[in-house]
Amino acid sequence: ARAMQAHLDAYAAAAARRAQEVTQVVGAALVDDRQRVLVAQRGSGPLAGLWEFPGGKVEPGESEVSALVRECREELGVGIAPEAFLGEVPLDGVVAGGVPGASTLRLYGGRIIAGELVAHEHSELRWLGPDELEGLAWIPADRPLLPAVRDLLARG
Ligand code: CDP
Repeated sequence: ARAMQAHLDAYAAAAARRAQEVTQVVGAALVDDRQRVLVAQRGSGPLAGLWEFPGGKVEPGESEVSALVRECREELGVGIAPEAFLGEVPLDGVVAGGVPGASTLRLYGGRIIAGELVAHEHSELRWLGPDELEGLAWIPADRPLLPAVRDLLARG
């Protein structure tokens, strides 16, 4: 029985280590009541100047939805209500702290329910309609999610 317990402990420890290696990233497609979505331009770092859906890394022990709410408060100064899960894409390379290829960007729809938008970390924020999205200089990871966002806007 002791050998079995040691085996189970080792297995649980390995699973916990793997979970810590994966840095999950979440993004928010925030929609207003005019069928527009909020897009944000990164202000610094290697991806500066490119457009993204606001979001960031899920912290250890944090749920994806909690991370989404926290990131929107930190980056945009607003309270949001997360809605439907829209899709997931692999992130190339190493997202700080993770292992190559292990991380994905998971995008959720949502709405602003409190506060006034302020670009705390981005150089610019814009509300765009479905036909204005393709033309932006997107972060590579976010672009494959645009059809799902267009569908969301079309549904209203
Ligand atoms: O805010 P935090 O430092 O947690 O994360 P971040 O710098 O906003 O995002 C971490 C990484 O996720 C970025 O370096 C991007 O590679 C990726 N990311 C992305 O591809 N698309 C997004 N919409 C948000 C983040």
